[in-house]
Amino acid sequence: MAKVTPILMKMGGSVVTYREKPLAANVKAIEGVARSIAAFGHPVVIIHGGGSFGHYYAEMFGVSTTPKIISPEAASKIHAAMLQLNLIITDILAKCGVPSYTVPPIELIDGEDVTESGRSILADLLKLRISPITFGDVLPSKRGFFILSGDVITRALAEALRPSRVVFSIDVDGIYPVGSQLENMILELDSKVDLKLAPGKGADVTGGMALKIQESFKIAKHGIDVFFVNGLKPERVLKALKGQRVYGTRIRGTKSGG
Ligand code: IPE
Repeated sequence: MAKVTPILMKMGGSVVTYREKPLAANVKAIEGVARSIAAFGHPVVIIHGGGSFGHYYAEMFGVSTTPKIISPEAASKIHAAMLQLNLIITDILAKCGVPSYTVPPIELIDGEDVTESGRSILADLLKLRISPITFGDVLPSKRGFFILSGDVITRALAEALRPSRVVFSIDVDGIYPVGSQLENMILELDSKVDLKLAPGKGADVTGGMALKIQESFKIAKHGIDVFFVNGLKPERVLKALKGQRVYGTRIRGTKSGG
């Protein structure tokens, strides 16, 4: 079987859930993204965020990206909420014609990078034409539990799989500079620019918009284009998956030295 070059897609927690409503999945939005992936018709590696599932409990129990000793009950609740959200998403994906296979991050990532066995699992799934799906999660370490953001996982997967492009679906149209008006959305961003970023709606334990942009700059430095599009507008998601001109922010991939 030939090697498959996938597209990576992060489904933001603010797209797949209602951020302000604990444990509420945005079924309509998930369906929209799922239909776009189905219409795209090529392998997509999917990463989803925590939204009002993972973040709800992470905030409740005071867990962040720095390892900390929390109760086993707390860790279990956060992880279970992510599994629950994952099941809702994979169910909708299947109904929309996108068969997927969940690989929890603990099976893929060590530190902040994809393991050898993770690479091999992903390569096999892609060759078998099933979409691998993973998610931000609470993970154990020698120093306690910590939250690994789906944005960091997306960057790690991009470095391991070298996809044709990476799409971040978010709940706004694109990236905005600090203090700017909505009409000032940035259409194209250079990964060499030192940008002051708008914190975005609902800062969370994994760093909200700033982390997404930081990780996407790292991706772009490998020569991979990154698109930020409104995940609540399925036609934009489809265009971004296809690499077509779309209303959103594009971070153009720049090869090192270029
Ligand atoms: C967070 O993942 C996962 C948990 C809180 C357990 P993300 O950081 O990728 O989530 P979103 O996309 O910001 O909601």
